[in-house]
Amino acid sequence: MTNIVLPFNLKEQIHQRLDIFEGLLPELKRILFELWEEDLEIQFKSSELDLVTKADHLSEQTIIHFLQSRFPMDHILSEETGKKEPIVKQIPSINLEPSEFTWCIDPLDGTVNYSHHIPLFSISVGILYNEIPVGGLVYLPYFNDIYRAVYNDGAYKNHKRIHVSETNELKKSLIVTGFPYNRLEIIDRLTSTFKNVLEHCRGIRRTGSAALDLCWVAEGRFDAHYEWNLSPWDTAAGIIILKEAGGIAVNERGEEYKPGDSLLIATNRNIHSEFVKLILEN
Ligand code: IPD
Ligand code: CA
Ligand code: CA
Repeated sequence: MTNIVLPFNLKEQIHQRLDIFEGLLPELKRILFELWEEDLEIQFKSSELDLVTKADHLSEQTIIHFLQSRFPMDHILSEETGKKEPIVKQIPSINLEPSEFTWCIDPLDGTVNYSHHIPLFSISVGILYNEIPVGGLVYLPYFNDIYRAVYNDGAYKNHKRIHVSETNELKKSLIVTGFPYNRLEIIDRLTSTFKNVLEHCRGIRRTGSAALDLCWVAEGRFDAHYEWNLSPWDTAAGIIILKEAGGIAVNERGEEYKPGDSLLIATNRNIHSEFVKLILEN
């Protein structure tokens, strides 16, 4: 991972932000479960494969409102409404400088699962400092699991330290992947890589939430995750959780992965070079 030197006090500021954000989780859980039972209101986005529900919107509005009132100097980038300037910039009479922090939010990761009442979905909130992920929190409401990490301070699940697996052979590795909504445009690449993985690894899974995939690699359930065309909000939190748990993530050029890159290959480190070769062979 790129070694960055965070200015004095910055780690504390990131911890503090995540601590405060944790306070909102019970309310978000309540919203998601209430609408799950009563009011999905499914709509289509880029295509009929790409869904959005009332819960995506309400979760996002609740998070944004909460963050803007607590951190008016922070930037926000969220899936359904895009970029938001810090509140302090919108009110010129307030003489406060914006911060270097951007909250990168997926208010409901796993919308298709949610719409089918499959409990594998999450809320993913990453904190970028000058565009580098330095803090992240992924919450799985159904399991009540909170994954959290701050740069150089380790990764945690429900306040217990987590680590990637020690698996060091592809044939003993369990892999997780996902398929983008524009999957038909890259169907040959997707199927040939899938075949490669099936031929060389123990098994392959698709959970339907990329943030969850990264957390489950971070805690050693899966040994690697690969996926094309993820968006920054899918990975901003998961990537720092994975790295702080000892994992490694690269892009299609084999360089360190940054949220927004077109291919993510995230592994437990031990199988990294073999696995990257397997995925990039196509
Ligand atoms: C999706 C999930 C899924 C991944 C898709 C994402 P959404 O996010 O993370 O696992 O395969 O590419 O778009 O739409 O449920 O927030
Ligand atoms: Ca997502
Ligand atoms: Ca989403």
